[in-house]
Amino acid sequence: MRTIAISNYKGGVGKTTTAVNLASIFAASGKRVLLIDLDPQASATDYYGLYELGKAEGRTSVELLYGSAGVRELAFETEAENLSVIPSVIELIDQNELLLREQRLKFALDDAADDYDLAIIDCSPVLKRLAFNAYLAAAEGGIVVIPVKLDSTVMRGTALTVEATKSITEALRLPRPRFKILRTFVPGRMTKAERTGAEVLDRFFPNAQFSSVVHASTKVSEGSWEWMPVASFEPGSRPAKDYAALAEEVLHELG
Ligand SMILES: Nc1ncnc2c1ncn2[C@@H]1O[C@H](COP(=O)(O)OP(=O)(O)O)[C@@H](O)[C@H]1O
Ligand SMILES: [Mg+2]
Repeated sequence: MRTIAISNYKGGVGKTTTAVNLASIFAASGKRVLLIDLDPQASATDYYGLYELGKAEGRTSVELLYGSAGVRELAFETEAENLSVIPSVIELIDQNELLLREQRLKFALDDAADDYDLAIIDCSPVLKRLAFNAYLAAAEGGIVVIPVKLDSTVMRGTALTVEATKSITEALRLPRPRFKILRTFVPGRMTKAERTGAEVLDRFFPNAQFSSVVHASTKVSEGSWEWMPVASFEPGSRPAKDYAALAEEVLHELG
């Protein structure tokens, strides 16, 4: 199993959208996919209508991190073939404080390594310790995808995220995950401010950006109102094609 962590220390940059679209595309192509919602805001969970059920049955990423149950007991199958989901709940916030073991998620995924081809983790923008768990899970043979929106805040969020992948792995003397930046919300025509943002990114991260980008499109939010990734909501649309290209590129990166 290979792990793809989707993280940025900034909200609203397309993390969840990227997580659910990649999950949908990979599963449709026959890969066995486990999507883990590691954000207490539980947006990815809502795509599969699993918030109440996960909470009622005690089958969420809280139990996964706490180590009280394994992936096999916790994952829900979804309507999409080959796609299982471990939902999140708001109580996950407390885990960020309580959790002392940064490798809990990695160990839980190691135990399920034969059951899935890909694990996709949708991270919270603010809960660092949860993100550390995701980075360590992705460290060996995985990748951290950092979606970014080109605006004046782009460098702060990106730099903090990249720095975090480095600091936790150095602290524990573990291998550092690869990371790659994904440009999201790319407009048909860039404004001057967006061009400046792109230049700054190119200067600091010339070799760590996906060549695929995700264009801004109302189709993405139209799909989200139906809780459908745009890849299945409107497969012929521009953002759906963008995500299909990204999925190819991610697979290539994973080798
Ligand atoms: N490429 C896009 N074009 C237009 N809207 C988008 C795009 N990607 C995401 N969105 C919308 O922007 C909002 C934030 O996206 P989301 O993936 O939830 O961000 P994050 O998980 O980083 O907070 C959502 O309402 C989503 O539907
Ligand atoms: Mg999100």
